[in-house]
Amino acid sequence: MTPEQSQHLKANIQKTLSTHAKNDESFLWMAYWVIFEREADPDGLEGWLNELNTGASRSTVIKKMVEAHEFQQRLPEENRGQPLVTSFPMPNREMMKEFLPPAEDFPVVPLSIDELKEQVASKHWFHQINLGNGIITPGQDDSAAKLPRIKIPEKLDGMTVLDIGAWNGFFSFEAERRGASRVLATDSYAWHTWDGKSGFDLARRALNSKVQALEIDILDLSPDKIGTFDLVLCLGVLYHMRHPLLSLEKVFSVTGNQLILETTVELFSEDRPAMVFYPGTEFANDPTNWCGANPAAVIAMLKVAGFTKVELASLVDFPIPNTGRATFHAWR
Ligand SMILES: C[S@@+](CC[C@H](N)C(=O)[O-])C[C@H]1O[C@@H](n2cnc3c(N)ncnc32)[C@H](O)[C@@H]1O
Repeated sequence: MTPEQSQHLKANIQKTLSTHAKNDESFLWMAYWVIFEREADPDGLEGWLNELNTGASRSTVIKKMVEAHEFQQRLPEENRGQPLVTSFPMPNREMMKEFLPPAEDFPVVPLSIDELKEQVASKHWFHQINLGNGIITPGQDDSAAKLPRIKIPEKLDGMTVLDIGAWNGFFSFEAERRGASRVLATDSYAWHTWDGKSGFDLARRALNSKVQALEIDILDLSPDKIGTFDLVLCLGVLYHMRHPLLSLEKVFSVTGNQLILETTVELFSEDRPAMVFYPGTEFANDPTNWCGANPAAVIAMLKVAGFTKVELASLVDFPIPNTGRATFHAWR
């Protein structure tokens, strides 16, 4: 492990600690990926759950994982045995800069078609990304089919674009394809769950893309850390927010001109701005879903967050009454 990787890892550990995982099991899954870079095995998981159930704090568990032989072996020799977590500060502006290398710093080594097929088949995908040569990543999400209702401008020539919650990067690569001069893809949860960021990295390499990537929670976004962007995409993210209004305030802070926000919507029959709160797994049996706003609430929150003009760009009804997906375009 290089000192840079070690630094990055420490930041991820800190992030895991500061993430509000809804239950101990989700927290441990995340910690396993970040620290051991693998899925949690049933015995290990049970052992750590037991520790948490008998009073150990999450930070104690992280500390013990870091002290474990499996993790220590991955550190440079001079760093072994050091108390990484307790002494490590939250990521600050200086550290963030390190994670934003200029695009030309990424060497691209081409893969053969067979190598690419093999690597694509070995990963968990959310997006369907056309990598050329008939290879499309087998994600559950028909990403291209969403484009007509999201209404990203056809031409983004010379614009800077931020894609929040980029996951495998379909929309980041699409923004680049439409001419954006710089695209920054950001994510947190999905980049340390399942196969982490490796799907994004593989697609980026296959497409010979210059899209940059930064692992950062939406609540940590600020102009100080990442600057501002002409166009911000925040697609399929809002309902995952535990603090939806605060998240939109952070999104506003990094929007130079326009935001495109896509989200689930519900409670259509209520004219007033209204939102359902999902404390557990009530919404699609997914503990990472926290809220479901109606269109009036999304518009109101965007305005309260600071946007001066907000438009409902599209609304698609779901078969379930009073629910659907909507896209909002908002301007500073
Ligand atoms: C349903 S996926 C949407 C992916 C993509 N934007 C799209 O529309 O296809 C939700 C994304 O939000 C990300 N996400 C969830 N919580 C987040 C947070 N607190 N900060 C940043 N991204 C987050 C997830 O990791 C995931 O990539």
